[in-house]
Amino acid sequence: MNRATSDRLQRTTEVPAQVPWNNNALQYARIKDELAPEVERVLASGAYVLSEDVTGFEREFAAYCGVRHGVGVHSGTDAISILLRAIGLGPGDEVLVPVNSCSSEPNAIMLAGATPVPVDIDARTYNLDPEAVAAAIGPNTRLIHAVHAYGQPCAMGDIIKIARDHGVPVLEDISLAPGTTIDGERVGRFGDFAVASFGHGKILNAAGNGGGIIITDDATVAERARDLATYGSGFVSEAQPVAEAYLGPSGRAWLEPAFNSFLDAIQAATLRVKLRHLDRWLAERGERARWYDECLAELDVVTPHIAEGVTCAYRGYIIRVRDRNRVQAHLLEAGVETRAWYTPPVHLQPAMARYGYREGDFPAGEAFARELILLPLYPELETSQVEHVARTLRDALGGA
Ligand SMILES: Cc1ncc(COP(=O)(O)O)c(C=O)c1O
Repeated sequence: MNRATSDRLQRTTEVPAQVPWNNNALQYARIKDELAPEVERVLASGAYVLSEDVTGFEREFAAYCGVRHGVGVHSGTDAISILLRAIGLGPGDEVLVPVNSCSSEPNAIMLAGATPVPVDIDARTYNLDPEAVAAAIGPNTRLIHAVHAYGQPCAMGDIIKIARDHGVPVLEDISLAPGTTIDGERVGRFGDFAVASFGHGKILNAAGNGGGIIITDDATVAERARDLATYGSGFVSEAQPVAEAYLGPSGRAWLEPAFNSFLDAIQAATLRVKLRHLDRWLAERGERARWYDECLAELDVVTPHIAEGVTCAYRGYIIRVRDRNRVQAHLLEAGVETRAWYTPPVHLQPAMARYGYREGDFPAGEAFARELILLPLYPELETSQVEHVARTLRDALGGA
């Protein structure tokens, strides 16, 4: 695909689409009366970082997920990078990642100096295939990055069992599925640690692209992550002494080069408001998925398979079609904005060339990446819009 076509497919609309990809403005209109005064309050307070809004959100989000500690940071990428540093991963260490996932995950792993090792997906759920995880674990594997991709929790029971058998910790990535459940329990508490992004396109998003969190029951990891997120500051110890005359009352000093990664108070206040709506939004997303299920039932497309015992946040409604690029272009002509995340699969991204993977290495993930389309799905989507998508799709497939 050339750059012009790609720009056309990925563009944010210049003219309003009939079924836009993005719902941020519509969502804001629904909660404006609650949200606008909170943002105004933070602005007026002058406390823009490290405030009660931030600690409040950290506490509330961690509690929502059933986890003890939360450390707010600037982005999901920072959350992964900081967590890896906090648990001592770096050069020579390997982290397993799903081959169909956002480049931000292997990117963060590489930024931490570690090596991302792609793992094939289950051809029905598009999540990590536990058997492929077991096969990929090697002597240098230090972490399994279990992403709940596309809003559906992955097979945590199987993955955790494999991880425990090999003494490898599990990082849950709940960026695309906050609030979803496995056997009635919310994601984020199954792994040893979890991260979330609150970037602008996420199900729980901040007002902008800044926001992420690390959650864990491990107080030591949480404290270390917090120090790393604040430039690498920390309490001075005998191992790194500083003369009394130079130490301020906090007893802290700069211990190591690290990150400037605060969760801003405006974003935290925004997220606190939105978190109160999340369960309702998830129910509304599920309802819209049912509409798609019904409207697409007769068409020659593969619709989502949701595993037994889990709920799904539907980060877009995934379909698989032959001749994906043509179908996607047809939908766009009719005002339906879609995405083909995540293609190329991780191992075929140019940034991964140094590891020498080839086409054919991950057959399930490659086939999926060639065929997937994410149809727009959000709580504000109307039945007439879903019907328009279905009609347009039927036309597109008829012309195949
Ligand atoms: C599953 C997942 N993890 C992590 C990230 C990184 O988050 P951010 O964009 O906030 O850096 C993203 C998305 O961008 C993501 O989809």
